[in-house]
Amino acid sequence: MEATKACSATDYKPGLEGVIAGISSVSVIDTERDTLLYRGYDVRELSEHCVYEEVAYLLLYGELPTADQLAGFQQKIGSQRSLEQPIIDAMVSLPKGVNYMDALRTGVSLLGHWDTQAQQLDHEANVEKAIRLIAKIPTLITTVYRAQQGLPPTQPDPSLGHSANFFYMLNGQKPDALTVKTFDISMVLYAEHGYNASTFSAIVTCSSLSDMHSAITAAVATLKGSLHGGANEKAMVMLKEIGAADKAEAWVMDALAQKKKIMGFGHRVYKHGDTRAPILKELGRQLSEQKGDATWHDLADVVEQVMMREKGLHTNVDFPAAYVYYMMGLPIDLYTPLFAASRVAGWAAHVIEQLDNNRLMRPKSGYNGPAYKPLKPLAERG
Ligand SMILES: CC(C)(COP(=O)(O)OP(=O)(O)OC[C@H]1O[C@@H](n2cnc3c(N)ncnc32)[C@H](O)[C@@H]1OP(=O)(O)O)[C@@H](O)C(=O)NCCC(=O)NCCS
Repeated sequence: MEATKACSATDYKPGLEGVIAGISSVSVIDTERDTLLYRGYDVRELSEHCVYEEVAYLLLYGELPTADQLAGFQQKIGSQRSLEQPIIDAMVSLPKGVNYMDALRTGVSLLGHWDTQAQQLDHEANVEKAIRLIAKIPTLITTVYRAQQGLPPTQPDPSLGHSANFFYMLNGQKPDALTVKTFDISMVLYAEHGYNASTFSAIVTCSSLSDMHSAITAAVATLKGSLHGGANEKAMVMLKEIGAADKAEAWVMDALAQKKKIMGFGHRVYKHGDTRAPILKELGRQLSEQKGDATWHDLADVVEQVMMREKGLHTNVDFPAAYVYYMMGLPIDLYTPLFAASRVAGWAAHVIEQLDNNRLMRPKSGYNGPAYKPLKPLAERG
């Protein structure tokens, strides 16, 4: 049996753990510096000094923009946020109680129908489509969210930056400076992370010479799960269920005794801690100070200490993101769509890279089914 021989136990890595599935110049986890680099730049420095649009530009074009290039890029994003009326109508007509990741998956797919370059696969068209997706995804999210609350859509404000505009479209109010800064940093930190499940899904999709919108639709679908993007929502649900810092230790011990996974802890790649998590944790501390209420920060701290003591596990970015978003008043079921609104820049950068130098993704499986069996005619079976 050729297929069985071809796959020895050592060839196969469940979940493709540690397998090099492609070569990319978009990002890397720099183990020497113990950090994440986007196109060579440390995510810690990017989050301190750059706005999301600057980082999206870096991911799409490979270099940081000059001031003029950034202004042009922001202007372009700002002018492309609106949705065509049939897309608004479709988002508004989704059934009550819709899952927002399902809605976003549908919305991204719909965007493709109205994108005049949808079927073009060349580099320039892919970059333009990526910019439109970055511009329009927040509008899809706020449109469907508001419709579910019985509210009309808010028109985007082209004079606002990407993060401020999101809050404005969500609730019609311009947020304070710390909220914008914190949210924008979370967007920078969520923007890219190598060959994670959703990015890989986008790469596989476009490798058949399918298009950008199809690839991003697949990525949104993959991000939804709680082992990936869905963890930020599940982490907040857990923190709310725990309710107070003095209940946290017993709650975590009980969950671990039941062999439950604690959302927002552990990582397939980082085994000594996620570079991004302490940045958001510090912002959580600042938000607590600003609000004069450290409930969530303190509670999270206990969960963190117990997880380190019991399992030696660090938080990943989704854990502080959960309570930071909560403190900013964002609805829990939008946390994963917001991850998507940020990660679309990374997804698109990988799709562009793949289509610039494409080879169809077609791995093979090992086989553990039966060996050859002679076929019995229907009348002789049973
Ligand atoms: C992210 C994740 C899927 C990585 O998993 P992985 O590399 O496949 O690691 P495993 O799931 O095999 O876990 C290895 C061990 O750590 C434990 N573990 C890992 N994450 C854990 C968690 N969040 N809570 C409790 N135990 C955990 C596993 O139970 C396992 O223990 P065991 O060897 O005693 O069975 C996993 O850590 C997880 O499910 N985390 C929670 C979801 C999450 O936060 N996802 C967002 C990722 S950015």
